[in-house]
Amino acid sequence: MSESLDKLFSPTRIKRDADALATWGCDWTRSFPVAPSAVVFPETIEEVQALVVLANAEGLQLVPSGGRTGLSGGAVASHGEVVVSFDRMNRIIGFAPADRLVTCQAGVVTQTLQEFAERQGYFYPVDFASSGSSQLGGNIATNAGGIRVIRYGMTRNWIAGLTVVTGTGEILDCNQGLVKNATGYDLRHLFIGSEGTLGFIVEADVRLTRIPEPQRVMVLGFEEFRGILKVLSHFQSRIELSAFEFFSELALQKVTAHRKLQRPLAKSSPFYALLEFDASAVADASAAFEHTLGEGWVTDGVLSQSDAQAASLWQLREGISESLAPCSPYKNDLSVRITEMPEFLDVVDELMRASYPDFELVWYGHIGDGNLHLNILKPDDLSIEEFYGRCREINPRLFELVQERRGSISAEHGVGLLKKEFLEYSRSPAELEIMRALKSVLDPNGIMNPGKLL
Ligand code: MLT
Ligand code: ZN
Repeated sequence: MSESLDKLFSPTRIKRDADALATWGCDWTRSFPVAPSAVVFPETIEEVQALVVLANAEGLQLVPSGGRTGLSGGAVASHGEVVVSFDRMNRIIGFAPADRLVTCQAGVVTQTLQEFAERQGYFYPVDFASSGSSQLGGNIATNAGGIRVIRYGMTRNWIAGLTVVTGTGEILDCNQGLVKNATGYDLRHLFIGSEGTLGFIVEADVRLTRIPEPQRVMVLGFEEFRGILKVLSHFQSRIELSAFEFFSELALQKVTAHRKLQRPLAKSSPFYALLEFDASAVADASAAFEHTLGEGWVTDGVLSQSDAQAASLWQLREGISESLAPCSPYKNDLSVRITEMPEFLDVVDELMRASYPDFELVWYGHIGDGNLHLNILKPDDLSIEEFYGRCREINPRLFELVQERRGSISAEHGVGLLKKEFLEYSRSPAELEIMRALKSVLDPNGIMNPGKLL
């Protein structure tokens, strides 16, 4: 136990009780041991810097902790590490209207940022089901995606400036919120998605955009997965989509039972898509729907008639993850190019059914981004260890299918502990070597989120 840690943090800002260690030492994954030695709550960049300097001097290992909503174990502390919570660095520091930039500390909750933007007459478009608890620093560290990537892109697109404390204790002020800056390597992008392995994100300049028009939601039913892709191209060639999400009948059954929701359509279909678009595009969207119905690509559809109905249709998609949580799902988060997707889904489905005839497989995801979430549900009679062991057995074959299509084994959930041993299926030996070399420059003593990603 480091006494110097107690010199740095007053007793209210350092916790070592079992409850605190269990709470701040993990994320939404439940399959890794949780055993940090302490949790600290810095309030300033200088305190984070002093902590990193101390960790280097005393050989402490540090794990960053945001809203702890991650799904790959990126914020899990299993080996006596010190957890660095950003809960107390949760202030919005400033807003520059002419730049459309809001400057935030790392611990600002996503929803707080969204609401702040709205009060200024602007919009922060990155959104997902966990926006009520996820924190900006964690979103940046994992380059979080979510439900409107098809229109607005990932977190990376909205970060105009980034302040980080590297593993050597340097403070870097990357890109300073500039629009144009042609001065060589853009280190900001190195830290985005680095999962806290190179440095801690402490502050960010976030770009805002115009508030979109009111949105309308459509849910469509499909007999065949291929129909979904045809419908995606047809709609996309006619209107700007804000979201194009997908879920299977089993996903719908789980979420309607869990949240006590109405089914969207009278007739059930093997697959569904949820589309969102500007209200001014309703006429074009309705014409596109008629066309796709005439072609036999969709079987049925519903268009929201009010904001309340749009919100309840969204629940069918956003509530899926939560509805599966009691079944301790093994989560796959795969992406391929959209063109590859129908055939990819067929081969993955075939592999899964052959390998796991006894497991329930739940498909959903951000189909407009080429991102599939395949969740395998744990049967009641298997222990979590046995179940995860069986799920991992198939990963080499599954990830080969991804690799053959030059896809990603982690589209938006990050690598963390869960996907670390499989990174070679998405990154080449040369890339991995460069990643390790960068790590050794920015974190030579390996104190920053050890054991994650690489
Ligand atoms: C989602 O798309 O619902 C989230 O990525 C969470 C999940 O995959 O479970
Ligand atoms: Zn997702």
